[in-house]
Amino acid sequence: MQRIYLDHSATTPVRPEVAEIMMEYMTNKFGNPSSVHSFGREAKEALENARSQVAALIKAQPEEITFTSGGTEADNLAIIGTALKYADKGKHIITSAVEHHAVLHACEHLEKMGFDLTVLPVDEYGIVRMDDLRQAIRDDTILITIMHANNEVGSIQPVAEIGRLAKEKGILFHTDAVQSLGKIPVDVEEMNADLLTGSGHKIYGPKGIGFLYIRKGVHLSPLVFGGAQEKKIRPGTENMPGIVGLGKAVELAGQEMDSEMPRMTQLRDKLIKGILERIPDVRLNGHPTLRVPTNVNVSFEYVEGESLLLSLDMKGIAASSGSACTSGSLDPSHVLLAMGICKEVAHGSVRMTLGRDNTGEQIDYVLDVLPEIVQRLRDMSPLYQKSRKECEGCTRTK
Ligand SMILES: Cc1ncc(COP(=O)(O)O)c(C=O)c1O
Repeated sequence: MQRIYLDHSATTPVRPEVAEIMMEYMTNKFGNPSSVHSFGREAKEALENARSQVAALIKAQPEEITFTSGGTEADNLAIIGTALKYADKGKHIITSAVEHHAVLHACEHLEKMGFDLTVLPVDEYGIVRMDDLRQAIRDDTILITIMHANNEVGSIQPVAEIGRLAKEKGILFHTDAVQSLGKIPVDVEEMNADLLTGSGHKIYGPKGIGFLYIRKGVHLSPLVFGGAQEKKIRPGTENMPGIVGLGKAVELAGQEMDSEMPRMTQLRDKLIKGILERIPDVRLNGHPTLRVPTNVNVSFEYVEGESLLLSLDMKGIAASSGSACTSGSLDPSHVLLAMGICKEVAHGSVRMTLGRDNTGEQIDYVLDVLPEIVQRLRDMSPLYQKSRKECEGCTRTK
């Protein structure tokens, strides 16, 4: 049986070119970049080369990149680091209801420490309204943290407008770009971003490595203490295999974006169109066009998402419900609920996220097997039976 991976927003396979360079820095070139001898200098050079590779993709300066253990740590450093540094200026932070838990939970932690939090609602597509943001800004607002692309429904936020407003008001703007990096252009100047988060394992790099872009002139309080690495903002001996792997992954993503973006968009739209045409009582979650090229998120009414995932898995198709971090729980997705989707429909939602290994033939196969699976699960659903009975005698066909 063929295996089709449609969960690239959870994680991606490490590219061979990335694995190759990582191996080199685990074996032959194992030096510590803080050492003065040739082994150390070799590592230091690779560290700075990776920093330049990351900076180039997001149009930043190399010295504005700080390596972290991943997206979660970068989000925490951006939010808590800003709050601790600028607490004298104000204690109000603005975020949105659809952020990743790495952002939401960091903000909630600050709330417990005495900071004030405004969580903006979103529209039916999961997008923040600029008017809501304008109204939420106060004299003591020190940070706006709103993601670039959503990990569950793929919707793209108006980050350039948000950044412009933040700049006008003298407020720092952080954006989590974990799900947009390498998929759509990410430009810190266009976005007016002061802080931006990225992660290696979503772009065919390794897990356990990420970065925070910190605009020149913005200062953060560190969250860990130790040596002088990463300008003391993030001390600890650098994860060299991870860092060179991230650098390579970012470089390749940048080179291929122009060709992969339209290909992914085509596959995404083929999958969405096919599902909506072949299966009744389905809704697309997220914005129809303002979404990353790799994201498909649909709710199948009268179907339990977890059962659908298991049935798909038996056919060799790997998809997910909710984000990777919450799919272990049966709570409905906070993102879908924030978009006004009811609990029952949210429970029937499935996310399929495309990647460079997917093909048109694979999408055809998914479209062949999905209608049968959905129908079989609906036939077993008491809710579906009830809805059909309610429709007996009326002209509406289910
Ligand atoms: C939007 C977003 N932010 C942050 C993270 C966390 O990144 P990491 O897994 O590198 O800690 C993820 C991972 O799912 C994500 O999707």
